[in-house]
Amino acid sequence: MIVYDFTGRHAVVAGAGGGMGEAIALALLEAGASVTAIDVKPVPTSLSKFGDRLTFAQGDLTDAAFVEQVVSAAGRKHGGIDYLANVAGVLWFGRDRSALEMDLDVWDQVFNINLKSFVHTARSVVPYMRSGGRGGAMVHFSTIQWYRGDPKPQDAYQASKAGVCALSKSLAMQLASEGIRSNAICPGMALTPLQARWDTEEKRAAVADYTPLGRIGTPQDMANAALFLLSDAASYITGIELAVDGGLLMRM
Ligand SMILES: NC(=O)c1ccc[n+]([C@@H]2O[C@H](COP(=O)([O-])OP(=O)(O)OC[C@H]3O[C@@H](n4cnc5c(N)ncnc54)[C@H](O)[C@@H]3O)[C@@H](O)[C@H]2O)c1
Repeated sequence: MIVYDFTGRHAVVAGAGGGMGEAIALALLEAGASVTAIDVKPVPTSLSKFGDRLTFAQGDLTDAAFVEQVVSAAGRKHGGIDYLANVAGVLWFGRDRSALEMDLDVWDQVFNINLKSFVHTARSVVPYMRSGGRGGAMVHFSTIQWYRGDPKPQDAYQASKAGVCALSKSLAMQLASEGIRSNAICPGMALTPLQARWDTEEKRAAVADYTPLGRIGTPQDMANAALFLLSDAASYITGIELAVDGGLLMRM
């Protein structure tokens, strides 16, 4: 197992109440970082044992004023921000359909959560990465799904996640000269509350069988990738998309 040392560093994790976000926040805390965690859900119990090193802000990431207030308070408290993990996202089965027929209010809501909230966090965090004087690193959660067409489309999800990769790359280019890195993670199929539809052993076995590495992804798989990309071990990596998918892209 790889052990990282993030002692003395400060991370903002957006979407820390969900499967992957909780795993990333927990891994950063266990590696010694201070974490400012944000989600509409309440603080997960796994995170609540870290005392002063965790600040949990419950609220809506689509609210730019809320994000700015939480991030600037955290940046001032810790004398800067080293890392941003943009993990929040929604996949609304049934309501998110073909762009040709779906309710465009749903389209806007999905874009606000999946893409624009990442802009709110990045705009709020970057000034504190600059003022900390140590550079910084970001990871933004997309999906491998945006690389392909789908006979059962979820076009707002797919297009917003393509936007996440484009945003990540553009930020990487804009911020590289200041030592601030930006990378996207494209998960395959991972067992989290977002995938509550895999609610039987049979369904989970079918997903595992379809995956070349023979199992469903876990929140820990995503945390492993996120910590690597945030860490100094990835100090020469920026502007990439890392598929963490058990080999699923090979089937596309
Ligand atoms: N699970 C998968 O198979 C899978 C596959 C590909 C990509 N992803 C992506 O990975 C990321 C993490 O997904 P997950 O599987 O952990 O999902 P999850 O549903 O467990 O977690 C997502 C979190 O985002 C939070 N959130 C949503 N809207 C919010 C808002 N407006 N304000 C604050 N918080 C909000 C939710 O409360 C939730 O805690 C997402 O961006 C998702 O699209 C997941």
